[in-house]
Amino acid sequence: MKHKLRECVLVGVALAAMTALVVGEEIHLPQDVSRLRASPLPGYALAQQKCGICHSADYINYQPPGMNQQQWTAEVRKMQQSYGAPLDDADIARIGAYLAVTYGSARADDAAVVAASASPAAGARAAQAGSAIDVPALLGANACLTCHATDRKIVGPAFHAIAEKYRGKADAQSTVAASIRNGGVGKWGEVPMPPMSNLSEAQAMAVAAFVLRQ
Ligand code: HEC
Ligand code: HEC
Repeated sequence: MKHKLRECVLVGVALAAMTALVVGEEIHLPQDVSRLRASPLPGYALAQQKCGICHSADYINYQPPGMNQQQWTAEVRKMQQSYGAPLDDADIARIGAYLAVTYGSARADDAAVVAASASPAAGARAAQAGSAIDVPALLGANACLTCHATDRKIVGPAFHAIAEKYRGKADAQSTVAASIRNGGVGKWGEVPMPPMSNLSEAQAMAVAAFVLRQ
């Protein structure tokens, strides 16, 4: 009898652990972009950065094969218009071209793909803006404000709480800049922050300085 009971408890514990695993999988954030198919097209890096914000790459993998550039570009535009994905026209064109070549019927040397891929992306424009780094534009282009606000928690901690935590710490700015570029999990909770590796070091330093002033 005693033995039975212990068995029950063990099964219970195992079940609880499995449930935790399954639940862990479900809240696994939008960050699973590693499975996007690689490509030399510039839209690949952009898609890695922008398309993992809200959901995994499965959504892309499950689209019907053979979609053309127009169809893929329309799909990307829908993410912007219906769901608020932070994309400008150049981003949409580049990502549409990448997806159409990598998952659909387009070819990398199609004139329309070459043209779409050549248009400057938001990040590049922000970088070209020279010494004056446009922090609000970077926050917008990288969906920071979808997850962060100044004084309340959304998905990520309030910028004000981050500033408090690092106040008076040596290297606060470079530590926070590194957290922004590398992403991370566990410092504030279980939800991961996606890496913002498209930001240059200088851009991340400027954004970090801004966060630490909040
Ligand atoms: C701001 C959040 C957000 C971002 C960023 C985003 N999506 Fe979506 N996406 C959604 C939502 C919401 C759905 C609908 C989910 C559902 O119906 O279950 C969706 C669905 C999809 C689907 C399934 C087909 C469909 O139309 O419903 C595809 C394909 C897709 N997204 C591709 C992309 C690509 C490519 C990117 C990057 C350019 C992207 N998504 C970025 C929110 C987003
Ligand atoms: C998908 C949601 C999401 C997006 C988008 C996002 N973050 Fe975060 N961020 C988080 C979460 C969640 C954490 C907490 C991670 C942890 O617990 O370690 C976090 C943590 C941080 C931290 C604290 C790091 C530390 O070392 O304590 C900073 C700073 C930060 N984010 C800035 C940004 C900036 C700037 C952007 C845009 C370039 C951004 N975040 C985009 C969710 C997000």
